[in-house]
Amino acid sequence: MATTADYTSAGAGANAALIVLGLETSCDETAASVVRLSDGRAEVLSSVVHSQIDDHAAFGGVVPEIAARSHVEMIDGVARRAMAEAGLDYADLSGVAATAGPGLVGGVMVGLSFGKAVALARGLPLVAVNHLEGHAVSARLTESGDPAAYPFLLLLVSGGHCQLLEVRGIGDMSRLGTTIDDAAGEAFDKTAKALDLGYPGGPALEKLAASGDADRYDLPRALLGRAGYDFSFSGLKTAAARLAMTVKTDQDRADVAAGVQAAIARQLTERTERAMADFAQRHETRRFVVAGGVAANRTVRTRLEAAATRHGFSFLAPPLAYCTDNAAMIALAGAERLALGLTSPMDVAARPRWPLDEARALADPAHKPGRKGAKA
Ligand code: KG4
Ligand code: ZN
Repeated sequence: MATTADYTSAGAGANAALIVLGLETSCDETAASVVRLSDGRAEVLSSVVHSQIDDHAAFGGVVPEIAARSHVEMIDGVARRAMAEAGLDYADLSGVAATAGPGLVGGVMVGLSFGKAVALARGLPLVAVNHLEGHAVSARLTESGDPAAYPFLLLLVSGGHCQLLEVRGIGDMSRLGTTIDDAAGEAFDKTAKALDLGYPGGPALEKLAASGDADRYDLPRALLGRAGYDFSFSGLKTAAARLAMTVKTDQDRADVAAGVQAAIARQLTERTERAMADFAQRHETRRFVVAGGVAANRTVRTRLEAAATRHGFSFLAPPLAYCTDNAAMIALAGAERLALGLTSPMDVAARPRWPLDEARALADPAHKPGRKGAKA
């Protein structure tokens, strides 16, 4: 696999080639990847992702203890495969990057400890990477066309996160808004579960929605027209679960799926458009990137793309393989950090919660972590 990205405007255009092993274990994917940053260009030399979906399917969601155990069993083999597919030895590496949070901390510890062991054994620098920063740079891994140059407005929508971020460069990102309860992917997954579509339900729900009438049911429109850039999906999730208990025919189920999908897409688009107007006041370049698993949804993508066009923004979504959780984005964030001399001490801790923009998160009580706060 050879994926390239142009780094000339990244501030990461160090002349010496940097080869970084990335490790990702923050949820239910055990992933390892090798990325080379050379002469201002990044190349994915390998990207291995082992999904644990089968281990969790029976439970209808990710079970943290099962995830952590599976990461322990898989990480060594997945990392070896990534190195073998890249055709490299650990001695060829310039550094090791591992997700240090946010995520399920048992899993995060597995990848981070493995990364520390490789770094210690080989005398390599360690880079602790914020998983969200990985998603943020994932749009710089394109298979064709131009990678996203900084700065850009990012909508990160996955099973665990729903955030709007202003990305000015590596380590220089601010959060404009986040979900005050659930992530959009969770709303997809929980609705899918209520409709007996299995786990993870997003893709199955999208398929079912194709034959449904999105306007049949009246669903909550949380925060519509409200100031700010935050999201809220718990009301929709609850309404959808209630509705799902009343469905009788296949058409009813399809109509619920279509209605929920449209409601999620509507809210994502409405909040993003506000952020676009704000971003456009501060930056001459207007680039919009959507990343995370939910970006795979065609209705969501189409609506966001139309919004970008309306506001004069270019639209970019990473290839699907880098939209969902992967280690190439972690290796890339690690390589960009390494190029700037940003490494981590060996005693760096795994963090279940780690907002990208810590100052903003701490200043805003609505975003304080905790049972009632945002999840990341
Ligand atoms: O980024 P990701 O792989 O993992 C997290 O960090 O959460 O995102 C997974 C999420 C799940 O909630 C899944 O249902 C959702 O992305 N998803 C979709 C689609 N494909 C994945 N949701 C709606 N439509 C899809 N086609
Ligand atoms: Zn993720």
